[in-house]
Amino acid sequence: MELAKRLSKLGTETAFAVSAEAAQHVAAGNRVYPLHLGDMNIKTPDNIIEATNKAMQDGKTGYCPNYGIPKLRELLAEDINKSHGMDYTMENVAIQPGGKPTISKFFMAMMNAGDEVLYPNPGYPIYESQIEFQGGVGLPYTYHEGKDNFELDLDELEQKITPATKLIVVNDLQNPMGAEASEQELNALAELIKRHNLFVLCDEAYFDIRYEGKSRSLAALAGMKERCLVLYTFSKKFAMTGWRLGATIGPKEAIDVIAKLNVNDESCSNHFIQYGAIEALTGDQSGAMKILDRLKERRDIAVSMLNSIDGIRCFKPNATFYLFPNVTSVMERKGFDDYEKFRRAALQETGVSFCTRRHFGRPLPDEKEKYIRFAYSGIDVADIKEGLSKFKDWLS
Ligand SMILES: Cc1ncc(COP(=O)(O)O)c(C=O)c1O
Repeated sequence: MELAKRLSKLGTETAFAVSAEAAQHVAAGNRVYPLHLGDMNIKTPDNIIEATNKAMQDGKTGYCPNYGIPKLRELLAEDINKSHGMDYTMENVAIQPGGKPTISKFFMAMMNAGDEVLYPNPGYPIYESQIEFQGGVGLPYTYHEGKDNFELDLDELEQKITPATKLIVVNDLQNPMGAEASEQELNALAELIKRHNLFVLCDEAYFDIRYEGKSRSLAALAGMKERCLVLYTFSKKFAMTGWRLGATIGPKEAIDVIAKLNVNDESCSNHFIQYGAIEALTGDQSGAMKILDRLKERRDIAVSMLNSIDGIRCFKPNATFYLFPNVTSVMERKGFDDYEKFRRAALQETGVSFCTRRHFGRPLPDEKEKYIRFAYSGIDVADIKEGLSKFKDWLS
């Protein structure tokens, strides 16, 4: 069999390989503390499940419009307008089977071969994969440790821009680092984007996974609405990762192209699930609030336990469900230089399973500090406590 040559450029989400290893470790009779994958061990709120069941019983089991059902598009536009302070209409919304499809469709719609694209690294690995797979040139930009969280160096980012740079991916409330731009940083980023006439994939997967403060959207800043395609997902806020429902939100001209790509890819998103999503947006919100409460408790415990380990430095992000502790000195102390060896040894010796910086894009040439990523969305507080105390003992 001769596979297409372009496949050599296709990356993947290697966190799934870590999951497979963790599952093997469990199958061999071991205890595993799953902190590797951003999946959730929290059930979708019952009212959403009931509305979806009803839609199925009511016969919403055939195809629906490629843009999504009109009522959901309308409600999602209203919801975003309320949370972002914007004025979208349903014409600005194309429903998707998850948040992720917006990434590949964004590049299909907006990128020509050879265009340069700024993207965060460490960052969600699918950006790098899709940029390269679709013939673009990735320009990684990074975050640095600040006082309370990771910060962007906008001068450093701007120096990477050339006349061939057309697009930028912005994932404020960032996976894996939990980074969040301050108001001034977000304003300065918007100015930079306008100055260089860039178009933006605004990945807002974690916009509503927030414990303190208020989320801000780049798309809501002056002159940015026409430059941004927003990735929206139901996965995290409503614990619906396996349902696969999200949306692309942005200028009508781009949304029409995205909807045409929908026809080519999947015809339409799952029909009856869209009625569950209507309930998610308009029905009882106590389920979503409880999800946030549970996640916050996990974050607080995990951060304080990690910071109690000599040599680990861990920020406490106000949003997302990720932690990105600096483990440079503990790796040194244990005699590890290699991320994979460290990760595997931790799994074997303690059962604590996590991803490392290596799972979030190709490492940059001048990187010195070492980081690992903990996702606390799929593990209960008691297990966080037990797992991290084993981890601490191992590292001490
Ligand atoms: C930054 C980021 N964008 C997009 C996605 C994809 O979300 P979904 O599971 O809804 O496809 C994820 C999922 O983890 C993510 O972390």
